[in-house]
Amino acid sequence: MTNTSSAPLLRIENLRAAYGKIEALKGVDLAIGSGEIVALIGANGAGKSTLMMSIFGKPRAKAGRIVFDGVDITATPTHQIARMSIAQSPEGRRIFPRMSVAENLQMGADAGHGSDDERAATLERVLTLFPRLRARFSQRGGTLSGGEQQMLAIGRALMSRPRLLLLDEPSLGLAPLITRQIFEAIRTLNRQDGLTVLIVEQNANHALKLAHRGYVLVNGLITMSGSGADLLARPEVRAAYLEGGRKV
Ligand SMILES: Nc1ncnc2c1ncn2[C@@H]1O[C@H](COP(=O)(O)OP(=O)(O)OP(=O)(O)O)[C@@H](O)[C@H]1O
Ligand SMILES: [Mg+2]
Repeated sequence: MTNTSSAPLLRIENLRAAYGKIEALKGVDLAIGSGEIVALIGANGAGKSTLMMSIFGKPRAKAGRIVFDGVDITATPTHQIARMSIAQSPEGRRIFPRMSVAENLQMGADAGHGSDDERAATLERVLTLFPRLRARFSQRGGTLSGGEQQMLAIGRALMSRPRLLLLDEPSLGLAPLITRQIFEAIRTLNRQDGLTVLIVEQNANHALKLAHRGYVLVNGLITMSGSGADLLARPEVRAAYLEGGRKV
């Protein structure tokens, strides 16, 4: 086979992962094409964060395969995966509160492998996407608002110049206006920079409007998948994740 252009950038096959006796992922299949935004939606405890973190080997897959850009990374050490053009903005943001915005962004750049010029260009890109970070550049991370911290967490991930960006609940706890700004920045990164994105959200409405495709995760298993518009229109998605769920 010579045509690799249609191969997904990330392919997850029959992935199983557990914390001790708790089976969090029970055989998950998921694929993300290069240039796609894919949303993973599901209730609390469905296994969304586990799926995202297992791409980095934490927790390690008990069965199944994770293939990134044609390379099987199922058993690759976490620090090596971080150097393979995959970056993550984890749930809860986890920025460094005592470090400045500038230093937090620098930490992200250290995970990548760009030249000085490339780092400078990426920093400029991040500060253009998130002007609030430019305004707070010397300020300590811990003094930022929740929305600004989320922007910083995404900006830090971007500094490693990833091809695949993993976002875990970027809208959690944020006001609608800030959520819109962050989602707009993700759309811009996808359209203008060709960034591939996996976004985990309980906020199904926003995420499925943003995403090209989506998956629904229930108790460690994918129960539905389709285009964002298709999933948004399905009564069972609306009942479980829109009408009764969290809305913005
Ligand atoms: N470190 C851990 N140790 C033990 N069990 C865990 C751990 N992390 C998650 N779990 C369990 O694994 C399951 C999946 O959790 P996970 O955090 O992946 O869900 P989630 O879909 O991200 O939920 P949320 O929407 O609340 O963030 C849950 O039953 C959870 O209690
Ligand atoms: Mg989670």
